[in-house]
This record gives sequence, C-alpha cells and structure tokens, in this order.
Amino acid sequence: MSEGEPGADVRRDANRTMSKLAIGVLASGSGTNLQSIIDAVEAGRVPAEIRVVLCNRPGARALGRAKAHGVPCELVDHKTFPSRELFDERVVAVLQERGVELVCLAGFDRLVSPPFVAAFPNRILNIHPALLPSFPGLHGQRQALEYGVRIAGCTVHFVDQKTDHGPIVIQAAVAVLDDDTTESLTARILAEEHRIYPEAIRLYAEGRLRIEGRHVRIVDPPAGNGSLANPTPRC
Ligand code: GRF
Repeated sequence: MSEGEPGADVRRDANRTMSKLAIGVLASGSGTNLQSIIDAVEAGRVPAEIRVVLCNRPGARALGRAKAHGVPCELVDHKTFPSRELFDERVVAVLQERGVELVCLAGFDRLVSPPFVAAFPNRILNIHPALLPSFPGLHGQRQALEYGVRIAGCTVHFVDQKTDHGPIVIQAAVAVLDDDTTESLTARILAEEHRIYPEAIRLYAEGRLRIEGRHVRIVDPPAGNGSLANPTPRC
C-alpha cells in the first residue's frame, strides 16, 4: 500500500479490527505521551495491546513508566551501533519479533531511516508539537512562539520518507497567550497531545482511517466535529 493509493484502508483485514491492535511505542525521554497511551489502553478506551516500549536512551523516564505498568520494554541504545541503518535494523527486528502492527513514535529523538519506513508502510504514527506543515523539526513550540503565531498546536501524522511530512490524522489547536513562555506554551500543547494521540491510535485500531493521497479520511468521525480540529475525545 502506498501513499496515493485511493481509499487505502490502513487496517485492511476487517476481521483484525475485532482483535486488539498490536502496537510498539518508541520513546526517548520523559514519556508523557507514552503514559497517555498506556492509560488509554488500560482503561479500555483504545483496543490495543502494547507489545513493546522501545527506548534508545538508558535511564529515560519512559522506561520506568513502562516497567511500572508491566508493559514489556527494551532498551536499544543507539550509541552502541556504528550507523543509523544498523540501529534501525535492530529496532525493526525487535518490533517484528513482537508482532507489532502499528509503530507509535512518542518523543522518539532519532530520525527513522527509509528502510524502517519501508518495513512499516503507513503503519508508523508520530506526534509533533506544532501545526504541521508549520514548524517541522526540533523545538516546534519555540519556533511558533518566536514566529509570533496566535494559534499553535500539535499534529498526529503518518510517517513517510520525509521528516514531519506524512498524511495528517488529527490536529489540535492551542491559543498563544501574550505572556506565554516556551515552557507555558509547551505545557498546554502537551495536554492536547495527550488527548489526540490515543484518539488517533483508537481510530486506527478500529479500522476507521483511509489514506487518500495526502488526506486521511475518518470513517464515522466523532460526533459534532467532522473536521477533527480539537476533536471531542472519546479517550
Ligand atoms: C512531545 O512534545 C512530542 O510531541 C515530541 O516530543 C515530546 C515528547 O514528550 N515529539 P514526552 O516524552 O512524550 O513527554
């Protein structure tokens, strides 16, 4: 399945929508997005099973969060690999060994290589702390603040071969206040991230996402907000 294929259902086998989606979460840092996913799965709001939390930094808070919830986790320290390709090869192997169907990048601070993306076509989601296509790359919140936008936000999107570029699933907007600092804006954006990331995973798990070129169509979108800008979450 490739980007541009009309109506491609990202969970093609309808029967699989009845079973729990096997997800792998990749994290590098504090892991608050990971926590929002764990909480939503534990509460039964997302029909998924976290098969593995893969972390590339020893001592990252994300690892402790996984352990505290009995979620399988694995440390794959990128510094112990001679190249990005070999690191990604190991990451892909771990995800495949665990039977992961959907990969969720949640504060993962490594760029994913083309072979990694090719191993999981239209099966990698990322959360970005800005309203893409504005402010891709690092420090999206700071970029937005320095640019002087009135509305910032966050984006859940499919990962393709270009950084912060793939088809957009959900965005949430956050007003920028006159006295905002990078820290205060980051905190309000993060709260929205924690709402929309589990929601996007739920929609995927329920087989309700169709990729049509750059557009992600949502089958039976949540009531009252067809555009899914600041969707009323069910999670
Ligand atoms: C989030 O702002 C996410 O959008 C970005 O990195 C941050 C990770 O935070 N990609 P956390 O580790 O989930 O707390």
